[in-house]
Amino acid sequence: MADELLRYRSEFPILERTTYLISNSLGAMPRAVYDAMKGYADLWASRGVRAWEERWWMLAAEVGDEIGVLMNAPKGSVSTHQNVTTCQAVVASCFDFSGKRNKIVYTDMNFPSVMYFWEAQRALGARVHMVKTDDGIRVPTERLLDAIDETTLLVPVSHVIFRSAYINDAEAIIEKAHKVGAHVVLDIFQSLGTVPVDVRALNADFACGGVLKWLCGGPGVGYLYVRPDLGKKLEPKFTGWFAHRNPFGFEAGPIRYSDPPFRFMNGTSHIPALEAARPGLKIIAGVGIPRIREKSKKQTGRLIQLADQHGWRVNTPREPEKRGGTVSIDMPDSQEVCRELLKREILVDWRPKAGVRMSPHFYNTDDELETAIAAVEEILKERTVTAR
Ligand SMILES: Cc1ncc(COP(=O)(O)O)c(C=O)c1O
Repeated sequence: MADELLRYRSEFPILERTTYLISNSLGAMPRAVYDAMKGYADLWASRGVRAWEERWWMLAAEVGDEIGVLMNAPKGSVSTHQNVTTCQAVVASCFDFSGKRNKIVYTDMNFPSVMYFWEAQRALGARVHMVKTDDGIRVPTERLLDAIDETTLLVPVSHVIFRSAYINDAEAIIEKAHKVGAHVVLDIFQSLGTVPVDVRALNADFACGGVLKWLCGGPGVGYLYVRPDLGKKLEPKFTGWFAHRNPFGFEAGPIRYSDPPFRFMNGTSHIPALEAARPGLKIIAGVGIPRIREKSKKQTGRLIQLADQHGWRVNTPREPEKRGGTVSIDMPDSQEVCRELLKREILVDWRPKAGVRMSPHFYNTDDELETAIAAVEEILKERTVTAR
């Protein structure tokens, strides 16, 4: 059966020259970004400071809504930021750690930047509890749920684990957190764009991520969803004039908060990055995440099958329902193999305790998977010959 999604390939120039299996790290750039960037420069050049009023001021909210649609977030509930770490800082600044409820529960499978941020909050009184993983692939859900107790304030966890692509049980984590009065900060960076996310169905408190991976939006745009009832009352201490109810009043003294999404923003928005993000968001919305997911399950399944045929270790769950868009394959000398693949224009990456991460997206052909695996086989053969 013809793969309908391949008609989008022509939108991404790099696919003509490389085997692009690295969308877990940086999604391919849509051709339309050239025009978006030219439009940005033309507007700045021709309209000067008037660009703020005519387009730029509202851009942060508009792009937030474009991202929000993909996770079923209500309009106005998604603010944009530079990255996920900043989103964590905004959330943390809405709470304080001086009371009895000051425990932060996370897992050793979180993305390190998110760990570093929360560990640093110990200096402000946070008690930080890290739930350890046994096999480096799956998060032990029961152990995580047990750690969330009546003193827990926040649970910052990844939806899909960057190392293994394991899909955390977000529903169970949010349910347990709510039962004891805690809030969950769900990092959906490795899910949104390849695995369906519905923040309303999950009753998520906060969800954050960035657009540069599965959303093909380039670096510089992170996003933060805040559940509307929380959005009305939370007061971020990491704040600034963009969050003011009357920013052009330039009032002295404490802030008077505006409504979301600007309430959760702070200083001047990252306009060029917001402009660059739009073409990718438009394409992803047009393709539709359910179709992306269906294809991803098949292609990641095929990669696992091929790795098994060669007897290579797979550090990704085998059940399609429990894995995201990446397959981590730890073949012998995997770091060296990764370097060789890059030289051959097969774009993948390598992570410690994971191996080579291969991440097909909607624009990849089945043949590209075979090409990548055949190249690994060849590299390993050549290495054996040289070692003799
Ligand atoms: C799950 C996850 N969270 C966060 C990040 C990055 O955080 P930041 O946007 O702060 O660089 C990554 C990868 O880059 C990731 O995979």
